[in-house]
Amino acid sequence: MNYDVKDLALAKKGKLRIEWAERFMPVLGHIKKKFAKDKPLKGVKLAACLHVTSETANLMETLKLGGATVALTASNPLSTQDDVSAALVKHYKIPVFAIKGENNRTYYQHIDQALDNNPHITMDDGADLVSIIHSKRRKLLGEIIGGTEETTTGVIRLKSMAKEKVLEYPIIAVNDANTKHLFDNRYGTGQSTVDGIIRATNILMAGLNFVVAGYGWCGRGVAMRARGAGAKVIVCEVEPLRALEAVMDGYQVMSLKDAARIGDVFVTVTGDKTVITKDHFLRMKDGAIVANSGHFNVEIDIPSLEKMSKGKRTIREFVEEYTLKSGRKIYLLGEGRLINLVAAEGHPAVVMDMSFANQAMSALFLLKQGKKLEKKVYPVPREIDDDIARMKLKSLGITIDRLTPEQRKYLAGWEEGT
Ligand code: ADE
Repeated sequence: MNYDVKDLALAKKGKLRIEWAERFMPVLGHIKKKFAKDKPLKGVKLAACLHVTSETANLMETLKLGGATVALTASNPLSTQDDVSAALVKHYKIPVFAIKGENNRTYYQHIDQALDNNPHITMDDGADLVSIIHSKRRKLLGEIIGGTEETTTGVIRLKSMAKEKVLEYPIIAVNDANTKHLFDNRYGTGQSTVDGIIRATNILMAGLNFVVAGYGWCGRGVAMRARGAGAKVIVCEVEPLRALEAVMDGYQVMSLKDAARIGDVFVTVTGDKTVITKDHFLRMKDGAIVANSGHFNVEIDIPSLEKMSKGKRTIREFVEEYTLKSGRKIYLLGEGRLINLVAAEGHPAVVMDMSFANQAMSALFLLKQGKKLEKKVYPVPREIDDDIARMKLKSLGITIDRLTPEQRKYLAGWEEGT
């Protein structure tokens, strides 16, 4: 078996970590048991480009038990848990190509190696597999039935490919399932981003001016958890409706230019590029901490920060101290890569349970329906989303009420008024 991981000696620790995550993933566990019994993915080859974490390991195991031949590569050079990748190779016999801290060349080489699995299905987090297949590995297109996409940024990229009619196979937008983004993006990113910032810096959140750029589901989560930790949260958002929502959620809302002067900590979660720029750095206080939790490392203009600094040193792991010409210092966390996976462990397994249940069920859906689908981006079928919500509630031991026949009739009609 071909693979490239940091050190197989880490496998024992990784296996324990995978088992710990499994405890918190009952919905995926249910699918795992069913897959192991029915083998619905028998004969399917699958390439996955996901953050290599203990939660992802459980998804890979599920797909393998379902009969698929899987190969896994990382969706970010800094997010891999090296002990987990070792365990996947050693104990689960799943080929992994991922090393935390790999350079860009190795990152793309690893994607190529995972694609050598000649997939029928691709599973992306950020659309890198789709992008490489469409640009450099077009021969693979012949065999591909479809793909899935885990994150907002990837879905945006893929929708623009579909719009320009260059997308060559159907994609299921796992991110857009309610049981994904309402929980993973909001509660997952919210907690793990604050966790990553604290692990990297050991700052006290209470009383800080904490600036969140972007008020999508991730931004809402980060703002909520930062406030919970005692910070004074400022939201910067370009969409009027979202900005208004942030106001009524009780945050201060202002332009990033204004926030730049008063912020102690800045986090970008916009999915866009060049959000924090030279102008903002010039306005920042001495000691300002800047981090990103969006998918790509393009939200903070790091090249400008490099250029405008007279010196730079690593002061702690994942903390780079930049000294500006004025003598003021700015601290960049995790090279501007998603801080929740770089310095912490990503979203907790409880939410990844639903995200990855959507992934597994979407792979099965593609296998059954893929040939009938057009070269477009599709939502996760509503029944899958609802089933996952139902299973999650059940796993939490929660029973909810059902509509009575009278209520169902009332909701379906229009005649009855006061
Ligand atoms: N994205 C964010 N958190 C994650 C995790 N724990 N595993 C996989 N992908 C993630």
